[in-house]
Formats: sequence, C-alpha cells, structure tokens
Amino acid sequence: MTRSSAPGKVYLFGEHAVVYGEPAVPCAIERRARVGVEPRDDATLRVHSDDLSLDGFTVEYAGSTDGKPDIDVAESLVDAAMGYVDEAIAQVREVTGEPDAGFEVTIESDIPLGAGLGSSAAVVVAAIDAATRALGVELSTAELAERAYQTELAVQDGQASRADTFCSATGGAVRVEGSDCRAIDAPDLPLVIGFDGGAGDTGALVAGVRQLRDEYSFAADTVASIGDIVRQGETALADGDVAELGRLMDFNHGLLSALGVSGRSLDSMVWAAREAGALGAKLTGAGGGGCIVALDPTPETETALRYLPGCEDVFPAELADEGVRQLE
Ligand code: MEV
Repeated sequence: MTRSSAPGKVYLFGEHAVVYGEPAVPCAIERRARVGVEPRDDATLRVHSDDLSLDGFTVEYAGSTDGKPDIDVAESLVDAAMGYVDEAIAQVREVTGEPDAGFEVTIESDIPLGAGLGSSAAVVVAAIDAATRALGVELSTAELAERAYQTELAVQDGQASRADTFCSATGGAVRVEGSDCRAIDAPDLPLVIGFDGGAGDTGALVAGVRQLRDEYSFAADTVASIGDIVRQGETALADGDVAELGRLMDFNHGLLSALGVSGRSLDSMVWAAREAGALGAKLTGAGGGGCIVALDPTPETETALRYLPGCEDVFPAELADEGVRQLE
C-alpha cells in the first residue's frame, strides 16, 4: 500500500472572489486526509472510506460515478466524494501514461466533507500523490498542485481557483491570485474553528455568486472589495498585526453575507465568537453551512462556541507547515 496525507485549510481572506481573479490567502491546518492506494490488475477503481463524515461506504465502479452506493447520506456529498476521487485517478492515468491503471483506494480523513476546510482538495492531493508513486512516478509539488487543480476544475464544472489545492499541496500560508500561487509568511495565529455539522454545495454557491455578479454591478463591486480586503490583510500579516487581521476578517464575512453565501448557523457562530471577544470571525470556504474561523488568543471563543446550540464541534487549529506528506 502506498499512502500519502495532505492538510485541510481555512481561508483567512478571499474565498469566492478568488474565482474572479482577486487574491486570496488560505492557510493549511493540521487536520489531514490520508489516502492509501494499491494498484489492481484490472482497470477498476474501488474506494473505501469509513470516516469522510459519511457513515462509511465502499464503492466499486469502473471509471464513472454512475453507480451510486446504497447509503443513507446526502447524495450530493457522496457524488462529490466519488467525483473527486474518480477525476483524481483520471489525472493519475494521464500523467503516468497508464490509461488502464486500476486501484484499491482507502480514504481516512479528519476533515469534515464540504464544510469549508478543504476536504476535497486534501483528498485529491493525497490521492494523486499516492497513486502516482504507486506507479513509480514522482511528481514535483508544483505538478501535483496543478493536477489537483485540474481535478477540481473538472468536478466543479470549470469553476474553481487554485487556492485550495495549492495550499493543501504546499502547506503553510499561501497567496493565490489567478495562476500566481506562492508561500507567504504568517505570524502564529490563534485560530479557532466552529463547525455547525452541515455542509455547503460549492458548485451551487459559486454559481449563485456568479449570477449575482452578472446581474448587479454592486455585486461585482462587492467581489472587488473583497480583493481590497485581501490586499490590506497581506500588509497586516506581514506586520504581524493580529488585531487588524481580525477587523478585516469581520469585514470579509459581511461582504460574503451580502453575496448570499453565509447562513443562519454560520452567522450565529460568527456572532457568538465576536461576543466572546474574538478579534474577528468569518465563514471559511464556500459557505452555506460548515465552518467559521475566528481569531482569539484567549479560551473565550472556544468556550462560547462549545455551548452554542447549533455548533457541533469547536477546536483550535494549528497552522500546518507541511503540505503533502508521504506516509509509506
Ligand atoms: C471553496 O473552498 C473556495 C471557493 O473560493 C471556490 C474556489 O476557490 O475554487 C468558493
């Protein structure tokens, strides 16, 4: 078995706007997806997972996601999980020049699915790394990030940025603007994550923002203003000014709400964090449901979220300096 892991991430700033060429700053966190692969002697793909925040599924299919597993979870989540693995393996077949390669794939993840912590990017990065290595091909980090990005692009109907996949492949804090992706320095950040137990449909949320942006010039201005916040945020990061970062995160959340991608439970976690004295709080990722990220050097936000009805899990997050990791 060849195994790799890759980290999830939070967005300090810039999700959604990054799809339209504005910069974004995601940071990898120490929550990982681990993918093990074993080449098969036929072209079949078999995927096992016990903990993608699904009840556990085992699926056998050959190159398409048409055959759905018979399990009692939201179909869109299963489609998403299977679609990403399927497309990741298509990239592996292409880059290794082995169109008939088949695999037994086992996924373990401590990153909730579709919750804004980059679960799909982490699974895709780890799967491509493990499967290419299993076929004797070693990709550079840049090539791995590119293949992972192509995977997300294919699954998300051509609407994806490089942010999630690049951050998961390289680790650390990164800045992404179009195809320009680079590591940046970040101070130690007191990140606290709240999770409402739900998930958002990234494709639908991205499409909703696109529609608003096409329809209203002020929605297009809102997207551009998020870009301004990110640029100001980069200065605050470089200065290590955590209080200013918090203020900018609050502002960023307000603009994401205006674009229709927040929701009642995300807003209520954001407000609980602010009322507990967090320096700032915002949703992270595509939105709809899932996670918020707050900045709080004290235990107050964690305590407030722990007792907030509707918040299912809360944990402090450490920055992951290392991206993809070869386990064996
Ligand atoms: C999703 O994690 C982040 C979005 O900006 C989409 C993307 O960048 O591909 C909403």
